Amino acid sequence: MATTNDFSIHALELGPMENFVYLLHDHQTDTAAIVDPAWDVEKMLSLAREKGIRITDILLTHSHHDHVNGIETVLEHTDAQIHLLKSEARFWGKTLIKPRLHHGGDSIKIGNTEIEILHTPGHTPGSACFHLGNDLIAGDTLFVFGCGRCDLKGGDPEEMFGTLKRIKAELPGHTILHPGHNYSPAEPTSTMEAQCEGNPFLHFDRQEDFVEYRMQVHDRIRHTPYEAVSKTEAIKSMDR
Ligand SMILES: [Fe+2]
Repeated sequence: MATTNDFSIHALELGPMENFVYLLHDHQTDTAAIVDPAWDVEKMLSLAREKGIRITDILLTHSHHDHVNGIETVLEHTDAQIHLLKSEARFWGKTLIKPRLHHGGDSIKIGNTEIEILHTPGHTPGSACFHLGNDLIAGDTLFVFGCGRCDLKGGDPEEMFGTLKRIKAELPGHTILHPGHNYSPAEPTSTMEAQCEGNPFLHFDRQEDFVEYRMQVHDRIRHTPYEAVSKTEAIKSMDR
């Protein structure tokens, strides 16, 4: 759990794919957003209830089944407003009840906590990360020592290269990464500084090398749980 004076981030690992479901709790108003409600999401609803927190919003990093299959359950118990990027809604094509569709750079407020929505395409066309305070909720864009696959429908490794380059350039090293899956159980969260040093997907300077590593090399040579990979090791693995 990450806590500042203003908000806390509660994480639960749920379901057969090590998904993280997050609760972003604004302290002053005791309201919260649930991020990527899926699987046994009742557990997060119970946690909110126990702590006297009202869930007002649902934030979606992207529309893959393993991140959204608990939306209906949340809506049965709350009147939460759904937020996602317009480009992801278009890609998904699902009819949602009064969603609020955003563009990259938009901000929303949960109580008094401001959250910036970043458009981070690559895993899907409308993937989003949520930036609040010093924390980044990254969905399947960036994992601890990994990144989202780009070979599924709507995936694009060239877009992912650009996305990761921007994240690396724009977010301070002390930013805490909260990924969409727990693929590195020894370190369920990390800092951007540690990722810049040990995440192989942040080591490539040329787009074509990144694309080859993501699409051809990575899944052959690396499996979860992910551990740190140095830049030298990442570049060397391209020769195999
Ligand atoms: Fe996904």
